[in-house]
Amino acid sequence: MQERLRIAIIGAGYWGPNLARNFHASPDWELAAICDLDGERARRVADQVGNVAVVTDLNDVLTDAAIHAVAIATPARTHHAIALAALRAGKHVVVEKPLADTREHGDAMVREATERGLVLMADHTYCYTPAVQRIRELVEEGALGDILFIDSVRINLGLIQPDVDVFWDLAPHDLSIIDFILPGGLRPRSVSAQGADPLGAGKACVGYLTIPFGAGAIAHVHVNWLSPTKIRRMVIGGTKQTLVWDDLNPQQRLSIYDRGVDIERQSATSVERKASTVSYRLGDTWSPALPEHEALALMATEFAAAIREERAPRTDGRAAMRVLSVLDAAAVSLRAAGAAVPIEEDLPDLEVVA
Ligand SMILES: NC(=O)c1ccc[n+]([C@@H]2O[C@H](COP(=O)([O-])OP(=O)(O)OC[C@H]3O[C@@H](n4cnc5c(N)ncnc54)[C@H](O)[C@@H]3O)[C@@H](O)[C@H]2O)c1
Repeated sequence: MQERLRIAIIGAGYWGPNLARNFHASPDWELAAICDLDGERARRVADQVGNVAVVTDLNDVLTDAAIHAVAIATPARTHHAIALAALRAGKHVVVEKPLADTREHGDAMVREATERGLVLMADHTYCYTPAVQRIRELVEEGALGDILFIDSVRINLGLIQPDVDVFWDLAPHDLSIIDFILPGGLRPRSVSAQGADPLGAGKACVGYLTIPFGAGAIAHVHVNWLSPTKIRRMVIGGTKQTLVWDDLNPQQRLSIYDRGVDIERQSATSVERKASTVSYRLGDTWSPALPEHEALALMATEFAAAIREERAPRTDGRAAMRVLSVLDAAAVSLRAAGAAVPIEEDLPDLEVVA
C-alpha cells in the first residue's frame, strides 16, 4: 500500500465541497486542509468531512512541506495567481475549469509547472464521466465513422458569474469534452462567437460558438444562463452512425442511430444516375450500457497517478490550453460581431508537460 499524498482544497464555495468529499474518500489521498478567505465556509466543509485543518491564509498551506498538492476551486479570475504561487512553493496543482481567465495566464501556468517538473491538471470533470469515456472509445474504434458535425447545447437558469461571461463559465465543459473525444484533440482553424446580454447584466449571458474543424466538419456550442428549461445534450454525427448524448436522461444517456445520409460518388453523368447519388439510411437505434461512478473520484485517482508516475494527466495543461485558445479567440470574435478569428497554436515551443 503506497503512502497517501496530502492535499489542501483552496475555495470552499459551491464546488469546493465536492472536491473535499471526493479527495477525502479517495484511498490515494489524505485531505489535509480546507482553505477559504471565509473561515466559516471552510469550517462548514471541514466539519462535513471531519478531522481536517481549517485555513484562511493561503500561505499557511504553501509553507506546509507536508502538503504535496492543492486543488483550486476559487473564481476563475483568481486561478492564475493562486496556481503560480502553489507551483512556486513546489505543490502539484489541479485547477477547476476554466484553467485560467485568459490564454496568456494559462500559458504562464503551464510553463511554470513544466519548468518545475510538477503536475498541472485541469478538472475537466466531464472527461471523467462514464458517458464521455464511452463516447471517446466509440469515436476511437471508428463506430461513428468520420465526424461530420457536433452540436452541443448546455442551457439552464444558471448563476450569473461575477467575474466571467457565459462562454468562460459553461463552454469549457463542451470544449473540453470535444477535445477529449476527438482523436488528436480539438484543433480548429477558427471560431466565430455571438453573444447577447438581453437583461443588461454587463456580460454575455447567451452565447453561440461556431467552430470549423477537420476536413470540412463543424461544431456548434450553445451556452445560456437564461433558459428556464435545462438541456445538456450533444449530437455527434458521423459518416457511419450518429450519437446523441442526453446527460439528463440517466436511463438512456447515450443513443446511437444507424441513420444518416450517404452520398455515392459516381463517375457516370446521366441525369438518372446523378439523381440517385443521395441515399438515406434508416437503421436501428441502440443504447450502450454505462457503469456508474462519480467523475470527481476518477479525477482524484488520475491526479495521484500522474504525480506518482511522473506523467501528464489525462486533462493536462495542454488540453486546458486548447480550450483556452478557443475561448480567447471567441472573446475577440465577440467584440468583432461574430467574425471568424483564427486559433493560435497552443504552446508551439514547449516540448514536455509534466
Ligand atoms: N467542474 C465543474 O463541473 C464545476 C462546477 C461548478 C464550478 N466549477 C468551477 O469551480 C470554481 C469555483 O466556482 P464556485 O461556483 O464554487 O465559486 P464560489 O464563488 O461559490 O466559491 C469560491 C470560493 O473561493 C473563495 N476564495 C476566493 N479567493 C480565494 C483565495 N485567494 N484564497 C482562498 N479562498 C478564496 C471564496 O471565498 C469562495 O468561498 C470556478 O472555477 C468554477 O468554474 C466547476
